[in-house]
Amino acid sequence: MSSHSEPKPTANQSAPVVLVTGAAKRLGREIALTLAKHGWQVAVHYRSSKQDAMNTIANLATNTPDTGQKHHIFQCDLADEAATRALVPSVIQHFGRLDAVVNSAAAFEYDSTQSFSYSALQKHMASNTGAAILLAQALHEHIEQRQQNGDSAARGVVVNMLDQKLWNQNPDFFSYTLSKAALEAANTMLAMALAPLVRVVGVAPGLTLTSTHLTEAEFTAMHKLSPLGQSSTAGDVANTVRFALENQSITGTTILVDGGQHLMRFERDFSMMKPNEHT
Ligand SMILES: NC(=O)c1ccc[n+]([C@@H]2O[C@H](COP(=O)([O-])OP(=O)(O)OC[C@H]3O[C@@H](n4cnc5c(N)ncnc54)[C@H](OP(=O)(O)O)[C@@H]3O)[C@@H](O)[C@H]2O)c1
Repeated sequence: MSSHSEPKPTANQSAPVVLVTGAAKRLGREIALTLAKHGWQVAVHYRSSKQDAMNTIANLATNTPDTGQKHHIFQCDLADEAATRALVPSVIQHFGRLDAVVNSAAAFEYDSTQSFSYSALQKHMASNTGAAILLAQALHEHIEQRQQNGDSAARGVVVNMLDQKLWNQNPDFFSYTLSKAALEAANTMLAMALAPLVRVVGVAPGLTLTSTHLTEAEFTAMHKLSPLGQSSTAGDVANTVRFALENQSITGTTILVDGGQHLMRFERDFSMMKPNEHT
């Protein structure tokens, strides 16, 4: 028997709700689409990409099998602690419940050991680490509340988006990498602290989508740099997030979805490499 189970609402209950941060575009959007297709109602979080967030909602609506499922957008700058603390309550106010959080939004700005500053560190730590912890804490409080109100089956789950480069380190994007390393440690500690009500799982992609630093040709060449001959696809990352959300037996660990890139050695971040620069 498989331990994989679809989130099924019982009679008179709405479909389960997931908050996906940074879901206006790119990987967050792909994750939102995959979850909506499989029965989740999605709280689409964005910071500045409102039009993209609205487009995501329109796309979710046409890709949602159950007409009872609703989706909604929520704006929040995750570097702002007060605004981040208000995010989960506003999702619960809208949907009446929250079952899962996918921490996908991330600041990804270049710095190095030479240009490192407290300001760069604080910016990445607030939005990439602190916000993920606050959202997990708020989900746990909500699940506890539901239990106290008699919903003994209430359970929550958090997925933290990490990065294969934690297992294959280089000093590029220094503050970003530190913030994800701290999030990986938080992933373990949160899993311990929030059990048994809330599971906490990391998903670590390899190079999946291109950045402004790479041309399309460079990205294609970098994407092939892996033991499997291709790094992760957005679809595989999104399906892994879904697996982590729905598999009731996983907590306190990370699934690497990277074509094995973490098994290789790269001296620079992909964004800083030329296609033939690898060991
Ligand atoms: N893409 C890859 O190849 C790759 C590889 C390894 C790991 N990952 C991880 O996977 C996740 C998704 O990657 P991605 O490439 O889709 O991310 P991305 O495009 O770099 O960023 C996603 C969103 O994060 C939001 N964001 C940034 N700072 C924020 C803040 N202070 N408050 C609120 N939102 C903020 C932005 O929202 P707005 O546009 O609305 O401002 C942005 O659209 C990230 O955690 C990343 O570290 C990605």
